[in-house]
Amino acid sequence: MAFRLDLVLIFSCFHLICVSCQQETRFVYNGFDQADLFIDGLAKILPGGLLQLTNDTKLQTGHAFFNKPFDFNTSSSISFYTRFVCALVPPKLGAEAGHGMAFVVSPSMNLSHAYPTQYLGIFNSSTNVTSSSSQLLAIELDTVETTEFKEPDEAHVGIDVNNPISVDSALPSYFSSALRKNITINILSGEPIQVWVDYDGLLLNVSLAPIEIEKPNQPLLSRAINLSEIFQENMFVGFSAATGKLTSNQYILGWSFSRSKELLQPLDISKLPKAPLPEDEQAPLPRDGHDKVSPLLIGLVVLLVILVLVVIGGLYWYRKNKYAEVRDSWEKEYGPHRFSYKSLYKATNGFSKDFCVGKGGFGEVYKGTLPLSRHIAVKRLSHDAEQGMKQFVAEVVTMGSLQHRNLVPLLGYCRRKGELLLVSEYMPNGSLDQYLFQNQNPSPSWSQRISILKDIASALHYLHTGASPPVLHRDIKASNVMLDSEYNGRLGDFGMAKFHDPKANLSATAAVGTIGYMAPELITMGASTKTDVYAFGAFLLEVTCGRRPVEPELPVEKQYLLKWVCECWQQASLLGARDRRLRGEFLPEEVEMVLKLGLLCTNAVPESRPSMGQVVQYLSQDLPLPDISPYTPGIGAFMHVSMEASSAICFEKTWIPKQQQQLLLPQPETNLKRVKFQLISQWLLELFDPEGDHSEQGRI
Ligand SMILES: *[C@@H]1O[C@H](CO)[C@@H](O)[C@H](O)[C@H]1NC(C)=O
Ligand SMILES: *[C@@H]1O[C@H](CO)[C@@H](O)[C@H](O)[C@H]1NC(C)=O
Ligand SMILES: *[C@@H]1O[C@H](CO)[C@@H](O)[C@H](O)[C@H]1NC(C)=O
Ligand SMILES: *[C@@H]1O[C@H](CO)[C@@H](O)[C@H](O)[C@H]1NC(C)=O
Ligand SMILES: *[C@@H]1O[C@H](CO)[C@@H](O)[C@H](O)[C@H]1NC(C)=O
Ligand SMILES: *[C@@H]1O[C@H](CO)[C@@H](O)[C@H](O)[C@H]1NC(C)=O
Ligand SMILES: *[C@@H]1O[C@H](CO)[C@@H](O)[C@H](O)[C@H]1NC(C)=O
Ligand SMILES: *[C@@H]1O[C@H](CO)[C@@H](O)[C@H](O)[C@H]1NC(C)=O
Repeated sequence: MAFRLDLVLIFSCFHLICVSCQQETRFVYNGFDQADLFIDGLAKILPGGLLQLTNDTKLQTGHAFFNKPFDFNTSSSISFYTRFVCALVPPKLGAEAGHGMAFVVSPSMNLSHAYPTQYLGIFNSSTNVTSSSSQLLAIELDTVETTEFKEPDEAHVGIDVNNPISVDSALPSYFSSALRKNITINILSGEPIQVWVDYDGLLLNVSLAPIEIEKPNQPLLSRAINLSEIFQENMFVGFSAATGKLTSNQYILGWSFSRSKELLQPLDISKLPKAPLPEDEQAPLPRDGHDKVSPLLIGLVVLLVILVLVVIGGLYWYRKNKYAEVRDSWEKEYGPHRFSYKSLYKATNGFSKDFCVGKGGFGEVYKGTLPLSRHIAVKRLSHDAEQGMKQFVAEVVTMGSLQHRNLVPLLGYCRRKGELLLVSEYMPNGSLDQYLFQNQNPSPSWSQRISILKDIASALHYLHTGASPPVLHRDIKASNVMLDSEYNGRLGDFGMAKFHDPKANLSATAAVGTIGYMAPELITMGASTKTDVYAFGAFLLEVTCGRRPVEPELPVEKQYLLKWVCECWQQASLLGARDRRLRGEFLPEEVEMVLKLGLLCTNAVPESRPSMGQVVQYLSQDLPLPDISPYTPGIGAFMHVSMEASSAICFEKTWIPKQQQQLLLPQPETNLKRVKFQLISQWLLELFDPEGDHSEQGRI
């Protein structure tokens, strides 16, 4: 670069030396570093070679002239050719700016009499149409409309001769031969614009275009002027610019001038200095407004997108969480029995309180409706650990495969974190205990009761014999007997007693049965079909006598139903134990038979209890009851043992009176004093020995 500048310098010097001997005819400046210029006013040459005519100062002018005059010998034809690159940079992009600049051919470089503003530093208020004293030519690039001078629009290009009223003017544009149309130029964009002024003695042509565009084929202005009438012998060429109330930074980047067309040197666009861009616009100016995107807008859009993503993510997470389930690989084989949480959630209206039909020791029961109006009951059990879950689900599914007209069909299950849901068919008439113990419901007649007893006996017989190993119910009681739409008894909730909540301390595991229905040997020997028979015996007495097996509110002699029925029998008034609400509508022999069967089933000696098959036959009176008396060993005799064991555990806790409650194993530290440690540990062993749970052979 430095080398080239040197070349230019040497060339210019050589040229000046040449010109000094004869008249100067041409020059070219690609930047004004080495230029021989006369400047005044605001004009200055900035480092880098940029010629600044005006800056942001108001009501000022700036001039720059080539320092030597040109001889326009008026007696011969005069011509000149020039092109220059200018940039009119407004203080802010798109702001109004003033006042413009002009290429001037003037007899004097002293324009101190001229005014700024619309006079562009060339004229003053006394120069008017008639005045010819100025004797100069100006090609103006005016950026402010002056109605006084009949100017066409805000920004325009005009030819002024002697006075500021243009002889010809046009809006800045160029003719594109490629597009075959005129393209408007915003001369206040701050972009460099190249201007061509050609005069051949007859026509004065003016063209302008952005620097990257070649000289247009058609000039913007073409005017026949006889400049010999105006020009004196020696004329100076240069630029004038002015500011008013509006200002702009007006620059000349490069300039080439020649008296003859042939000797005119082209400008080297690549060597031109760069004009500063309008303030707040350090990046290259966008070609049109559509590309102008403010950083604030981008920020807002990004923020919005992030917000939308967060909301979508949140919704997804919420939905995912709302219907999340736990599904393990071992569950594959139970696929058909698995319900989706979403379907259950929808069926129960989001487990709403209005759909809650009961609260048991294990969890809430909700009524639900699946598509196709299928009514279901959903039992919601809370559990935390995976421990034992596999086995439990396996049992649930096995039980679901058991089919008997007196079983509540178990349809399937669903697992979530900390939750297990069991789905069974919905029984519209609720559980039997509501009819036996609640006065608002009609008390069932004897024929209804005996029918329900037969139903349950048949269901239990099926559980004990229909599968191998036998399925134990473990929690037979009136509240687990459901009534279908035709008031048939249906045994429900089987296997529930086995479900224990691992959340609870292992030594205080819940639910092995319900007080009053638990055979005395349950604690020591574990569950078997015989313990189910015992519970069924208690259930027989419960249904016949219309009261729960244990009612602490009653007088001492009546508290334990088993004991009391036996005592009634001993006093030869067995029928006196019956439910008083039965009135006369019963067969006394049948009631007596059922009571005796209840005592037989609750025999303290497991071996003396009948099997469920026998019970079914006794109930249908296909088989006469064996000969027993209230004094037969085991009949009521062991009761106090059973009651002692359970009372030791239960009565210390205050929660027992409502027999709905499941029996909880005591916290060792509070109850070990009463219950022998050995007894408890044996019981625990039984509880957590899953192998022993189904087989009675080893136990009895
Ligand atoms: C404009 O230029 C003049 C002369 O060089 C200087 O005195 C003045 O401070 C400048 N004004 C601005 C706003 O740059
Ligand atoms: C102007 O031109 C005429 C004729 O062409 C010539 O006689 C005269 O010397 C010229 N004047 C100057 C100053 O060159
Ligand atoms: C310019 O002309 C004015 C008179 O119009 C004069 O006072 C001034 O000194 C001149 N300036 C120069 C630089 O010749
Ligand atoms: C033009 O200027 C002259 C003085 O230079 C003045 O006498 C004349 O009235 C002006 N004409 C108009 C139309 O302004
Ligand atoms: C206006 O300019 C002319 C030269 O063109 C000059 O003679 C005259 O004195 C100027 N008038 C004022 C008021 O400056
Ligand atoms: C372009 O502008 C010139 C001068 O302003 C005019 O003569 C010409 O008709 C225009 N051409 C088109 C295609 O508009
Ligand atoms: C001016 O433009 C016209 C076409 O519009 C052209 O014929 C003429 O030669 C041009 N004159 C100069 C000096 O370029
Ligand atoms: C221009 O004006 C001069 C002097 O008034 C005259 O001699 C010449 O013939 C004119 N040229 C044209 C082309 O009209």
